[in-house]
Amino acid sequence: MSLIKIEGGKPLRGRVELKGAKNLVTKAMVASLLGETPSTLLDVPHISDVDVVQRLLNLHGVNITHDEKTGDMVLDPSKVEQAHMVDIDAHAGSSRIPILFCGPLLHRLGEAFIPGLGGCEIGDRPVDFHFDVLRQFGAVIEKLPTGTRLSAPDGLVAAKINLPYPSVGATEQVLLSATTAKGLTELRGAAIEPEIIDLIAILQKMGAIISVDTDRVIRIEGVKQLKGFTHKALFDRNEAASWAAAALATKGDIFVGGAKQVEMMTFLNTFRKVGGEFDIEPAGIRFFHPGSELQPVVIETDVHPGFMTDWQQPLVVALTQAKGISIVHETVYENRFGFTEALNKMGANIQIYRECLGGNPCRFGQRNFNHSAVISGPTPLRGADIRVPDLRGGFSHIVAALAAEGTSNVSNVQLISRGYERFIDKLQVLGADFSVEG
Ligand code: EPU
Repeated sequence: MSLIKIEGGKPLRGRVELKGAKNLVTKAMVASLLGETPSTLLDVPHISDVDVVQRLLNLHGVNITHDEKTGDMVLDPSKVEQAHMVDIDAHAGSSRIPILFCGPLLHRLGEAFIPGLGGCEIGDRPVDFHFDVLRQFGAVIEKLPTGTRLSAPDGLVAAKINLPYPSVGATEQVLLSATTAKGLTELRGAAIEPEIIDLIAILQKMGAIISVDTDRVIRIEGVKQLKGFTHKALFDRNEAASWAAAALATKGDIFVGGAKQVEMMTFLNTFRKVGGEFDIEPAGIRFFHPGSELQPVVIETDVHPGFMTDWQQPLVVALTQAKGISIVHETVYENRFGFTEALNKMGANIQIYRECLGGNPCRFGQRNFNHSAVISGPTPLRGADIRVPDLRGGFSHIVAALAAEGTSNVSNVQLISRGYERFIDKLQVLGADFSVEG
């Protein structure tokens, strides 16, 4: 599947079910490497990021079974072994998760080889924090032409770490490295996204001692040994927000099964301010367009508990239908507005600025990064031929095509399967008018 032809202008209506969060599940799979006994992870979605991590774990001797229907995954790390560099390197460019294999492999094997990283092109995405952290734990890092080799002949030892920015990945790197390191690790400036708290819950089930204090301080008391876990993964809040925005942009009504309020409070506030309505029920959240005019909003993306960077793209499509001027200041990634070019081609009026259009402290001001968007609406959208640029931007293209009058050909859609399970089936259930080609 690489191209979808969409006849837009029809409201999406119906129910979709979420599984576990892409940004938790993949890390939980890596955490299983730390256990002496098998782990069971429930609600694992069938997405290509999971496939990549599964293949890399297999290469390192972890035996995995995944029931794609129920989402039950069992990971047995009892025969962990060093994988061949060539086999690992075959996965170069496929995901960003391999960087998180460093700590667990150093603990289990004393060495690790990490392929070149992939992931969406939404900024430079350096891994300097990761390597700084690993060096502080005592790892020796050698950059090779094809990847990175790490060793820790004397094992990892606890460290006092201060992150320059609350990076999700670097916080996870610390957690996965410190849990069985010798001594007490103190991490300041940690990210505290719900996916991170869920990873901490998993590590605690495995035998770790981790406290999350106020002001982004996490303390980890190293323990000698960890066992396997059984855990139901946190629901995918990013997918929930994506379907919510799709309901709003298409004037539809979608019940998102498995979505929960607490982890989405910031999103729900903004959704309400735009004019969307929602009903929170035990089984999920119903998101709908109430029929009245949508209102413009000012959004600044931020680390949790702020408005997530992964929520802005589909919501921007809905904002093209709001009456007035909306502003989105992207403060997490420096290059996350590439998707707006296609929306403008479809009739939107979105201008991108280098300046910080907002008050949040931002690393990108005065640095030539196009990281603020001004959206003037309402502008009718019309079908066009567009190409998916990255995961979240790609989903926003699908939403725009569904909201637009006329036919759109959306190419490169296979990229969306990296993070949205069975999205084609879900579109069908929601009554979208489309055909899959190519
Ligand atoms: N950063 C550095 N150096 C580092 C690490 C990060 O400068 O060593 C910078 C990044 O360049 C970025 C900022 O710090 O500007 C935040 O990056 P972070 O490390 O928090 O992001 P990540 O761990 O690479 C995860 C999610 C992203 C999500 C962000 C923010 C995964 C696999 N990815 O990325 O999800 O946007 O956290 O919440 O968990 C997505 O799902 O589409 C996605 C991009």
